[in-house]
Amino acid sequence: MEVSNIPKHIGFIMDGNGRWAKKRGMPRNFGHKQGAAVFKKTINWCREFGVRAATFYAFSTENWKRPEDEVKGIMNLLRQYIKDIRAMQKENVRFIFIGDLSRLDEDIRVELADIMETSRKNTEFIVGVALNYGGRAEIANAAKILAKKCVSGEISPDDISEELIEKNLYTSEFPPLDLVVRPSGEQRLSNFLIWQVAYAEFVFMDVLWPDFKKKDLEYAIKEFASRSRRFGGL
Ligand code: FPP
Repeated sequence: MEVSNIPKHIGFIMDGNGRWAKKRGMPRNFGHKQGAAVFKKTINWCREFGVRAATFYAFSTENWKRPEDEVKGIMNLLRQYIKDIRAMQKENVRFIFIGDLSRLDEDIRVELADIMETSRKNTEFIVGVALNYGGRAEIANAAKILAKKCVSGEISPDDISEELIEKNLYTSEFPPLDLVVRPSGEQRLSNFLIWQVAYAEFVFMDVLWPDFKKKDLEYAIKEFASRSRRFGGL
């Protein structure tokens, strides 16, 4: 692709799996299964295009409200993909799982903690996977950490700055978020990386996530590159 400013970090809201399955007369979990396959392909396309990091919204704090078999289906997909994740880890890819992981099943938690630890030094690409994630909860969590440090005397309230808050978000080790891609026709953020999007570009697309292709990613990156980002300057 002949584009000079490739986004360093892209956020993907993997939306439309349910509708994709319904259109085929299939259960919603069939859509999630296809969605997970696209998750894996998208990581590789991002790497090919020279993107440095991608964060995927896989499960929100609100998604527990879905029927039990759908929640189980998504968790089982995650179990299945742990093998693929381990394979990518060998290709110098780092994985960071963001969100309140304490509510996930123990076997998953143990695997995710191990993957994060063992891939910590990998430098070619960072994959973020948001699980039991909510942007407001993330900010509240950072506030709690800093409040505890104030109480213990480690910092003073006057030390609290944007930088310090940012350092206590789940994404502190990612490059700044440049672009958010949301397929499926919806134009909202749904509590995804709400702090990090302050200067990000948005590309909303009509394609459903399970149909998302390399050419769609290419379109989003070209769209990003064509926009003039001034960060409040001139
Ligand atoms: C939103 O589509 C999608 C989700 C809530 C789940 C996304 C999860 C995956 C793609 C699998 C995750 C697995 C791995 C390995 C990361 P929707 O169900 O809201 O679709 P709809 O709007 O058409 O109903």
